[in-house]
Amino acid sequence: MARDGLAAHYQGEDIAERILSALRAAQGADARVTAEVLAPLDHFHGRGLAATTEMAARLDPQADDRILDIGSGIGGPARWLAERFGCHVTGLDLMPSFCRAAEALNAAVGLSARVRILQGSALDLPFPAASFDHAYSQNVLMNIADKARFFTEAFRVLKPGGLFAVSCVGAGPGGEPFYPVPWASTPAESFLATPEETRRLVLDAGFDLVRFEDRTEAMLPARRRMLEEVERDGLPALGWHVFMGAERSLELVANTVRSDLAGRLTTLELLARRPG
Ligand SMILES: C[S@@+](CC[C@H](N)C(=O)[O-])C[C@H]1O[C@@H](n2cnc3c(N)ncnc32)[C@H](O)[C@@H]1O
Repeated sequence: MARDGLAAHYQGEDIAERILSALRAAQGADARVTAEVLAPLDHFHGRGLAATTEMAARLDPQADDRILDIGSGIGGPARWLAERFGCHVTGLDLMPSFCRAAEALNAAVGLSARVRILQGSALDLPFPAASFDHAYSQNVLMNIADKARFFTEAFRVLKPGGLFAVSCVGAGPGGEPFYPVPWASTPAESFLATPEETRRLVLDAGFDLVRFEDRTEAMLPARRRMLEEVERDGLPALGWHVFMGAERSLELVANTVRSDLAGRLTTLELLARRPG
C-alpha cells in the first residue's frame, strides 16, 4: 500500500531530540533555539529557508492572519512564518511522528500558542470552508495521487481572495527519476505531474493563477555544484538528514540531482488566488 510505504519512507522517532542535539553539537550547549536558528534542519524541501523566504514574500502575511501549511512536515516553515510575521499558522501533516516532532520543536522555540499542529490528510482537511487567509504547501504534491482533490480542498478552506503558494517537484521528459528520492523510497509513493498538468489542475479547482514559474532550467547550475560538494565533502553538519538518516540522505540528495540533470524531474513554484 502506498500509505504504508509512505510511513516507512518518512519513519523516524525522537526527531526533535535528534535535531536539538545536532544543533547543540554544532553551536554549543547554550545555543539559542529559535525558528530562524533551526531553519537549516527543519525546512524539508529544495533550497530550504531561501525557498520559504521567497514564498513568504509572495504571500505577504500580516500579523494575526490565519495561514494553513498543508503537509507541514516537522513544522520548520510554519514556525519561521509565525516568528517572522506574527501570524497564526496551522500545520497539517499525515505522519504522526512528524507532528509529534513539530509540537516538541514549537515548544522549544516558545511558539506553541501561534503554531497549531494537526495530524490528518490534505485530501480531507478538517476545517470549515473559508477558514484561512492564505495557505501554502511545499514539496508535498509529489506524494499525492489525487491532485484534483488536493487543490479543491485547499480552495474550499481558503477565504475568497486568499492566496495559495505551492512548490513541488514534477515529472520531466526523461522518464522516471532514480529512486530513492527525498519524498519516496520507491515509485509506489511518488506521483509526479508535469508543470502543465499541475497548471490545469489549479485552474480546474477554480483558482486564478497569479504566478507560475517552471524553475527547472534555472536550478541546474546550482544542482550541479551541490552534487560536486556532497560527493567531495559529504553533507553539512546541519540539515534534514539529521532526522532522515545521514547515509540514506546522501543517496536521496544525489539521486535527486542526478535525476534533475538527466531531465527526469521538473521544479515548479506557483501562486494561485481564490477569486474574491
Ligand atoms: C518532503 S516533506 C515536506 C515537508 C514540509 N512541507 C517542509 O517543506 O518542510 C513532504 C510532507 O508531505 C506530507 N504528506 C504526504 N502526503 C500527505 C497527505 N496526503 N496529507 C498531508 N500530508 C502529507 C509528508 O508526511 C511529509 O511531511
